[in-house]
Amino acid sequence: MSRLTVVGAGYVGLVTAACMARLGHHIIVMDVDADKIESLRKGKVPIYEPGLAELIAEYRERIEFTTDHADAYKSGEFIYLCVDTPSTASGDADLSRIWQAIDNLPPDEGEHIIVTKSTVPVGTGALVKAELDHRGYRHIMYASNPEFLREGTAIADFMHADRVVVGADDPAIAARVAALYKGIDSPVLATDVASAEMIKYASNAFLATKISFINEIANVCEATGADVTIVAKGMGMDRRIGPHFLQAGIGYGGSCFPKDVSALKQLAGNSGYHFQLLNAVIEVNELQKRRVIGKLKRYLGEELRGRRIALLGLAFKPNTDDIRQASSIILASRLLAEGAHVVGFDPVATPNMRTLLPAVTYVESAMEALQGADACVLVTEWNEFLELDWASAKTTMARPIVIDGRNALDGPALANMGFTYEGVGTRSIA
Ligand code: UGA
Repeated sequence: MSRLTVVGAGYVGLVTAACMARLGHHIIVMDVDADKIESLRKGKVPIYEPGLAELIAEYRERIEFTTDHADAYKSGEFIYLCVDTPSTASGDADLSRIWQAIDNLPPDEGEHIIVTKSTVPVGTGALVKAELDHRGYRHIMYASNPEFLREGTAIADFMHADRVVVGADDPAIAARVAALYKGIDSPVLATDVASAEMIKYASNAFLATKISFINEIANVCEATGADVTIVAKGMGMDRRIGPHFLQAGIGYGGSCFPKDVSALKQLAGNSGYHFQLLNAVIEVNELQKRRVIGKLKRYLGEELRGRRIALLGLAFKPNTDDIRQASSIILASRLLAEGAHVVGFDPVATPNMRTLLPAVTYVESAMEALQGADACVLVTEWNEFLELDWASAKTTMARPIVIDGRNALDGPALANMGFTYEGVGTRSIA
């Protein structure tokens, strides 16, 4: 079993730490945030990810938490970089935390393999390697091992990965990184560092493209009377297309797709190539978030001032408290700008949203959000909204109007109860 130092106690770092501990490895998690490390030591996991707290608790004896770089690096045979790489103002990836981690490496003689899990632009590994060589750190090797975890199902995605991608210049290094995954029944693709880095960007950009594509089809369906849910089903039955990531809705969000699509576009541009398709993917996604406003105006009239609009769900998708680039942010901000009274509820993401948009009224339950509402928008398809007692909800709303931003509710059933229902790319039912 190996000793791994995980740098960065965010989603990726903690999931990697917990799952690698489960595979039998000894882990030291290092983060510069002393409060975070202190709460992790006490067994409190600072993010919401189903099963993560339990997994960390189960393998707690194999996981240490520290803020001490020197200590953490010294004992790690593998140093996993799991720091975040947010977008800069120019849309490039901000690599400052990667460089910070490199700066903190101890100039000892112990052998280490730096493994980058953070999403970094193609070419970053080569730059890091050159910098290590420049500093004379020839005892430190390098590999890229991108992550393909989805928030909300990250542990299952790790333990049952479709593939494990390992990029290294030396096949022996790739084999050592791949060996860490022994116990997981997933194919390993060993390749060079640049290709591994590109696999990550290309995968996320392709999935985002699929979503923007089906969203445009949905918009054309609305104009022509077709139903996108059936269209997506029919398309997905073609094995060359596949059924996944064809759910039309109010746009993709999260900490990955928006950032990575933009970073790939900038990466291409910086290399002298104009990646036209990604411009459209981004623009379609931005417009998709705003289309709900037009739908609300169709039912409530042009004037939304003073209208009470209930937003069910604020997280960028269910089973996470993450609101980064969530469609709810654009939607709530646009509604507030129109003078609407926005009432929001999310089972776990409310505290994050409250800090960002204090002008929204946050309530404790979906039913409370719907009380007196002129319309309701399903923003995030949490199970509890699908299982809501909609018949009671109808009696409490001022007007029974439901805009289903995720095509997740049973439209005909709601219409039978007397709701006016409209999804995305489906026929509206009154
Ligand atoms: C995404 C990728 O799916 C992971 O493989 C990748 O590892 C991760 O980014 C990352 O780079 O770290 P994640 O952002 O957690 O994972 O969430 P997804 O489940 O992919 O959903 C992203 C957004 O797309 C959500 O807002 C979701 O509502 C939306 N979506 C997804 C759709 O609108 N339609 C779909 O059919 C699927």
